[in-house]
Amino acid sequence: MNEYGCFVCGRGKSQDLRGKCEFCGSPFDVAAEIKKCRFGDYLPIRELGRGFYGTVVLAKNRIKRQYALKVCSSALYQERQKSFVEEVESYIAVGDHPNIAELFDGGDTEIDIFGRHLRVFFLATRYLADAIPLDDFIAKDEFGVEDLIGIAVQICAAICRVESQRLWHNDLHGRNILIAPRTPDDFDHHPAAGRHLVKVVDFGSAIFKHPGPEKEWQDIQWMGKHARRDAEEVKATKQRAAEVGSLVHPTLTNVDRRRNGSNAQQTG
Ligand SMILES: Nc1ncnc2c1ncn2[C@@H]1O[C@H](COP(=O)(O)OP(=O)(O)O)[C@@H](O)[C@H]1O
Ligand SMILES: [Mg+2]
Ligand SMILES: [Zn+2]
Repeated sequence: MNEYGCFVCGRGKSQDLRGKCEFCGSPFDVAAEIKKCRFGDYLPIRELGRGFYGTVVLAKNRIKRQYALKVCSSALYQERQKSFVEEVESYIAVGDHPNIAELFDGGDTEIDIFGRHLRVFFLATRYLADAIPLDDFIAKDEFGVEDLIGIAVQICAAICRVESQRLWHNDLHGRNILIAPRTPDDFDHHPAAGRHLVKVVDFGSAIFKHPGPEKEWQDIQWMGKHARRDAEEVKATKQRAAEVGSLVHPTLTNVDRRRNGSNAQQTG
């Protein structure tokens, strides 16, 4: 179940976006207000998605280049003792990777919404046109085993990069993995398998800490859950996933040892 923090005071939270904060009375839905503001060089066009700490909008810069701009409430960061500087540092430490939404810019500014003056943080990342979250992609159920393998390879590649930087994404789930149709540009620049391009987003909870075998195992189980469709496909998928796993993500090759609680192998 999604939960939303109060953008204005940072104290209230709700599972209903249409509600109002019990502490300051502000609506949880800030999209219409955010759309009227300017964030450094960026002007919002429309909302792409809403999360706990803020909202992600499609925005354009001075030369009308489009970005996915994440606008976060500094009140919520303060209330939850979250550091925007650390978030940017860990995102930059990940480096550029074809399966991770690239970070281009970030900053803070002051805006007026619901008659209040607020400080907000923003991050400009690569906008993935026509993207849908992995959860919705799975729910649509219009993919075959080959598609799934292409997607699994790319998710593994992204996780492998994150872990090789001694980082842990810490919030890996089906709304933080975006799937988009592959475009000519992607064919030119990202020679990965499949008809789809995967980009992992949302490094807001990433930490500089090796996850440890238990947490890695949770990530692997989560990925495995999505590999179940029918008996035939499970068989084919498992076989291919094992091949893919041993090539792409060293963690996957040591699942049994990890489950038994022995020492984690260094991922690289
Ligand atoms: N780069 C992007 N391109 C297109 N849509 C995006 C992008 N980044 C985020 N979104 C949309 O916004 C939603 C929330 O973004 P996310 O970074 O996960 O923020 P939150 O911390 O609020 O969960 C995503 O689930 C997705 O629907
Ligand atoms: Mg998210
Ligand atoms: Zn509030």
